[in-house]
Amino acid sequence: MENKCEKILNKYQKEEGNVISILQHMQEEFGYIPDDAVYWFAKKLNIPSSNFFGVATFYSQFHLKPRGRHIITACCGTACHVKGADPVVHRIKSDLALAEGEETTPDMHFTLESVACIGACSLAPVVKFNKKIYGTVSPDKVTDLIDKYGHKKGK
Ligand code: FES
Repeated sequence: MENKCEKILNKYQKEEGNVISILQHMQEEFGYIPDDAVYWFAKKLNIPSSNFFGVATFYSQFHLKPRGRHIITACCGTACHVKGADPVVHRIKSDLALAEGEETTPDMHFTLESVACIGACSLAPVVKFNKKIYGTVSPDKVTDLIDKYGHKKGK
């Protein structure tokens, strides 16, 4: 971890960056914001770790936990809700066997996140697999998509 942090520190010093740019580099490097990396930078730069955590929790672009290889984003906005987002989300959770409050499968293959609006309301209900948007989805359609993205039964 230390090597990766040193690399980020060099970029930061070159760019005269701020806490946000360090966090962005950390996320690029690790895929999320590891606590240990935050403490490392806080010590190196003499910035309170609470500054990093404050910014990281404020902006939804930052993730404090490791995420799966495939990110499923379920839209729970009004248009999607009205057109049946709830059974779709229920099916995703059930197919991935996610326990209450869990977002990522134990094999780190999928992470399920929700958003207030993906911006494609005319296609409601909408889900995204990584960057690809799928519209007018049904529970069966998301089961097919989860299989397509490599779901292993029982994981
Ligand atoms: S409410 Fe779902 S895309 Fe807008």
